[in-house]
Amino acid sequence: MITLGTPLSPHATRVMLLGSGELGKEVLIALQRLGVETIAVDRYENAPGQQVAHHARTITMSDPAQLKALIEAERPMLVVPEIEAIATAMLEELEAAGTVRVIPTARAARLTMDREGIRRLAAETLALPTSPYRFCDSPAELQAAIEGFTQADGKRRPGIGYPCVVKPVMSSSGKGQSKLDGPADVGKAWDHALAGGRVSRGRVIVEGFIAFDYEITLLTVRALGTDGQVQTHFCEPIGHVQVAGDYVESWQPQPMRPVALERSRAIAKTVTDNLGGLGLFGVELFVKGDEVWFSEVSPRPHDTGMVTMATQWQNEFELHARAILGLPVDTALKSPGASAVIYGGVEARGIVFDGVDAALRVPNTELRLFGKPESFVKRRMGVALAHDVDVEVARARAKQAAACVKPRAA
Ligand SMILES: Nc1ncnc2c1ncn2[C@@H]1O[C@H](COP(=O)(O)OP(=O)(O)O)[C@@H](O)[C@H]1O
Ligand SMILES: [Mg+2]
Repeated sequence: MITLGTPLSPHATRVMLLGSGELGKEVLIALQRLGVETIAVDRYENAPGQQVAHHARTITMSDPAQLKALIEAERPMLVVPEIEAIATAMLEELEAAGTVRVIPTARAARLTMDREGIRRLAAETLALPTSPYRFCDSPAELQAAIEGFTQADGKRRPGIGYPCVVKPVMSSSGKGQSKLDGPADVGKAWDHALAGGRVSRGRVIVEGFIAFDYEITLLTVRALGTDGQVQTHFCEPIGHVQVAGDYVESWQPQPMRPVALERSRAIAKTVTDNLGGLGLFGVELFVKGDEVWFSEVSPRPHDTGMVTMATQWQNEFELHARAILGLPVDTALKSPGASAVIYGGVEARGIVFDGVDAALRVPNTELRLFGKPESFVKRRMGVALAHDVDVEVARARAKQAAACVKPRAA
């Protein structure tokens, strides 16, 4: 484990968060509760996590030179990525040089920043079940990947078929993602992916559409046991609903058939064993009956896991903080519960929130308002949390509370 010291003293334990949104903010709070000195980095000023950290730094994290200069100046003991858009090759260089330890590992950060890295690892190296997929660099390639084509030797190569899903290789929260039902959708999907990706390079993944019964996030923690060996712990599965690829509500526990749960854990163990290091991972899985498909994994707390602030003794942020410091963890459920997202609904800076009192009058609810300086219509500005012995009651209450909160321009 790492010796914990006194913040702002020569014996401080210093941790740097790369990305300081609502998830990073909660990790920072959990670290601060253990007396860790925190450095919150983001690409814009007054990001949620910067408002609660000891130090705030604003840089372009995808710029290797800026990232290197900051890490060398601050010399944190740990660097904790909160987002995907980071110069991960530079993190690998700094980790290899022994300058810093990256959570969970710099390699995991690199592989998961790009859909291609993690998908090839999961499907081709680890032989985990996934949707069928291809990577394409042009609309023509995309069309051929979906509809199939005749090869030079005259053999017909079958395509992924319709319906299918197209996503930029670098994007998150459903940005640039579309479902295609027929040939007429190919052009639109390509343009949408190009506009929604993080980089202009137009590379997409096309995946066969999985008609799952439900999807889960299986929070999986790699933490040190008493013998100093890494042990894998699982939280109760989190069910969630995504609209246009973005999470709108989640609940825990999601009831599962024993075989599906066992398969989910085996997949999560395989992929997190390979990514290695210490910390919490959000393993996304699709489930139909007893069948389970791996979708993707975040080597860090997951947005759908915000529900654990209402449902677990140690929420996903505390679990991450403990695990990365080499401390013991407990993934036990405290109560079933649910979360519902509060969107900005307006485009404005410095918004105000009406209806907070009404929201908190809904029994067994809590709110988190993230404090983002600028609101967009589809930007996540807060979340409502609810607990109840009945998970369906908790879902209804979280949604009811979220609906009470009305952001508006001041
Ligand atoms: N192949 C697929 N079949 C069915 N639904 C999918 C598929 N891929 C993605 N989705 C839906 O879109 C959501 C977002 O996709 P995901 O790959 O997780 O993107 P992101 O990285 O933006 O979260 C998923 O949680 C799921 O609801
Ligand atoms: Mg996802």
